[in-house]
Amino acid sequence: MRSLEGQTAIVTGAGSGIGRGVAGVLAAEGADVVAVDLDAERLTAVAAGLDPERTLTVVGDVADAADVARMAAAALEWKGRIDVLVSNVGIYPTSPLESMLESEWNRVMAVNVGGAFLLLREVLPTMRSQAYGRVVVISSITGTITAMPTLAHYAASKAALLGLVRTAALEVAGAGVTVNAVLPGTVETEGLRAAGGEEYVDLMLPSIPVGRLATPEDLAWAVRMLVAAEAGYITGTALPVDGGQTLPEGRVSNEAIAELIGGSN
Ligand SMILES: NC(=O)c1ccc[n+]([C@@H]2O[C@H](COP(=O)([O-])OP(=O)(O)OC[C@H]3O[C@@H](n4cnc5c(N)ncnc54)[C@H](O)[C@@H]3O)[C@@H](O)[C@H]2O)c1
Repeated sequence: MRSLEGQTAIVTGAGSGIGRGVAGVLAAEGADVVAVDLDAERLTAVAAGLDPERTLTVVGDVADAADVARMAAAALEWKGRIDVLVSNVGIYPTSPLESMLESEWNRVMAVNVGGAFLLLREVLPTMRSQAYGRVVVISSITGTITAMPTLAHYAASKAALLGLVRTAALEVAGAGVTVNAVLPGTVETEGLRAAGGEEYVDLMLPSIPVGRLATPEDLAWAVRMLVAAEAGYITGTALPVDGGQTLPEGRVSNEAIAELIGGSN
């Protein structure tokens, strides 16, 4: 795979979890990284681990159009191009559907779907003018393949992202720009720990055939593949990176099935 040297990559939500992993891998692969986050302290900590010459931090809210315009402008002023966008920010507060407030629904939609929309609208014209670009949107298996109680707003937002990705992919298909989605399973991040704690991890673990949670780097390397120059024919796709979590048929134990089927051979 060709190095990302000379390429500028915007990574949102780079202060934590998957976004931090993506920023680290893309930087290690040669990219100049524009690390974006709402949380200035987290960004500073992440930037401290990266080459200062090849890292720019921008504090801002992806749900705010003016902030998003500022993120793209900062990248262009810094390096004059935007080759890669990883739209990773997503929030996952929980709320049972029957008592969900409109404000809860609206904020999840504004950040998770609205943020990706604003970012795409902002960077696609630049990518089109360069006749080159790679966009990866971080969706989820939740909403696109599976569902989880208390996450109706989140699931709806993650499914909506696939409609956005597919349409964007079509609109820029002739311009050297690809747009794809990555669907993480259960990933060991600060956000996940804060949401569910150790108990949640213990609960999810048996549902993952590879036998462990994903690391942010597992997701980051999937992103790296999709942003490769060589991946120009992959567009509009949704790639699960879930350790096989969505494979089992129903709530049956894989071991029990193996024993049963294996026993009849
Ligand atoms: N962790 C998982 O198991 C998992 C599973 C499936 C999908 N995902 C998706 O992966 C993405 C990253 O998840 P994570 O677990 O790494 O999250 P995280 O909470 O660990 O990190 C998210 C980062 O985004 C920043 N952020 C939040 N709102 C923002 C906003 N409006 N503008 C700018 N920055 C903002 C936060 O400050 C934080 O640094 C999300 O889209 C999430 O839905 C995560």
